Amino acid sequence: MSPPWWKSAVVYQVYPRSFAGSGGAIGTLDGIRARLDHLEWLGVDAIWLSPFFRSPMADFGYDVADYCDVDPLFGTLDDFDRLLADAHRRGIRVLIDWVPNHTSDQHPWFVEARASRDSPKRDWYVWRDGSPDQPPNNWAGTFVDGPAWTWDDVTGQWYLHCFLPQQPDLNWANPELVGAMHGVVRFWLERGVDGFRVDVVQCLGKQPGLPDDPPEVVGIPHSALNDCAETHPILRDLRRLFDSFPGERMMVGEVYLLSTARVAKYYGAGDELHLAFNFPPLHAPWDASAWRRRIERVIAELEPIDAWPTWVLSNHDNRRHRSRYGGSEARARAAAVLLLTLRGTPFLYQGEELGLDDAIVPPDRRVDPGGRDGCRAPIPWTGAPDHGWGVDDPWLPWPPDSSSRNVDDLRADDGSILHLYRRLLRARHESAALQSGSLRLLPTPDGAVAWERVADGDRRLVAVNFTDAAVDIGLTGEWVVEVANDGRGEGERATGRLAPDQALLLRGLSSRA
Ligand code: NOJ
Repeated sequence: MSPPWWKSAVVYQVYPRSFAGSGGAIGTLDGIRARLDHLEWLGVDAIWLSPFFRSPMADFGYDVADYCDVDPLFGTLDDFDRLLADAHRRGIRVLIDWVPNHTSDQHPWFVEARASRDSPKRDWYVWRDGSPDQPPNNWAGTFVDGPAWTWDDVTGQWYLHCFLPQQPDLNWANPELVGAMHGVVRFWLERGVDGFRVDVVQCLGKQPGLPDDPPEVVGIPHSALNDCAETHPILRDLRRLFDSFPGERMMVGEVYLLSTARVAKYYGAGDELHLAFNFPPLHAPWDASAWRRRIERVIAELEPIDAWPTWVLSNHDNRRHRSRYGGSEARARAAAVLLLTLRGTPFLYQGEELGLDDAIVPPDRRVDPGGRDGCRAPIPWTGAPDHGWGVDDPWLPWPPDSSSRNVDDLRADDGSILHLYRRLLRARHESAALQSGSLRLLPTPDGAVAWERVADGDRRLVAVNFTDAAVDIGLTGEWVVEVANDGRGEGERATGRLAPDQALLLRGLSSRA
């Protein structure tokens, strides 16, 4: 049996508001469809669409008011069907973003639940008695400076919201709620989506009695601490539901716990999440020893339980990695080699293939309660003032240097970072070692990390120089440079010497070193 598609895939995250417009200030599903050429040319296997469902947009779509409809800002269900069909025709799978921990406070379920203590949907959310000046426990909210609780005057109880007050937490201990949510999953799987990215998985189950967080972590958002046994049966039920559909549908969970050992538990015994995001590497600095440790943790925690890793450097919640790593193009290119050659499924975030930095967003244009506007800037498709959007002034300012750093201009330049991403994707597709091979870290001098990937006689070696000084990794065996982050020496015999900020993908000339 060949491994499932999501093990060898490269997934590309599309943030619909900012990917591509169709004449308005906000991106649309039709806009995405019109730009599928770019994704096909780049060579991605799947896209993950951040939420496009009906929403009041308090958290830009992560506050869902109807899980089974498209917000008119982005288009219609028919537009979605067309996008799905067109992507599938091109061999691109489609994952959608599912937000099961909370709804919008405008969702009809919450409106009904809030109406009275006797509402049949009351228990679909988490309510607690108390006095209006004393929240039920010490849990801190996310994106708010205060508790994860809001007092509801009408019914005289508190409701829980691990995120904004406009995002009340659902109660997964209620079987009717579970049934309704399974209905949502079925709705989309029957429509033909290939899987789900599942939002804040670690929050789904709540510890009975909702005990206080320990004093030493008070103030840390509870969403980043909630990690309890109650979540795992919820995931096992979901997994059975996914597995009952034909065609390898999958769930990749956002497990926002900054410990790979904790994340590993969400794979269960191969009966929970298919994949889980592991964010400690995203939070690592651009430093060889930090990265070596992160890679060692993944090997130590995931290999023994046969869990397939994921790798992600950027997304819509964090500063873009180019900006985090100091803004250098050479580093952004080296990071591409790193991300696309490790063992596991890489997730690209729209625009990283252009080497985008975060946009500079002046205070009067900031809109996100979590301060994440910079990485959500619209994608510049052309060098024209409207950058291919049909409007000069979209919902957020353009990223820096868009008159030259845009899809058209970078595509016309063989030496651009965009072409580097494409070469790396092609190299992955052509190599069993890169797609599924083992990974062994090699001894290297300070400042560099190198690893070998092997599958069935196919061998690749990757070496990344994290510093601005040349380094010699002491290569043994015969290797040829397949991809270099700066394009230098490709097709030539490798010497083991890395120039400053250089990252190399090498192909083994014989089946043994
Ligand atoms: C994680 C999502 O990635 C983020 O954008 C959102 O604000 C929170 N979950 C809450 O849904």
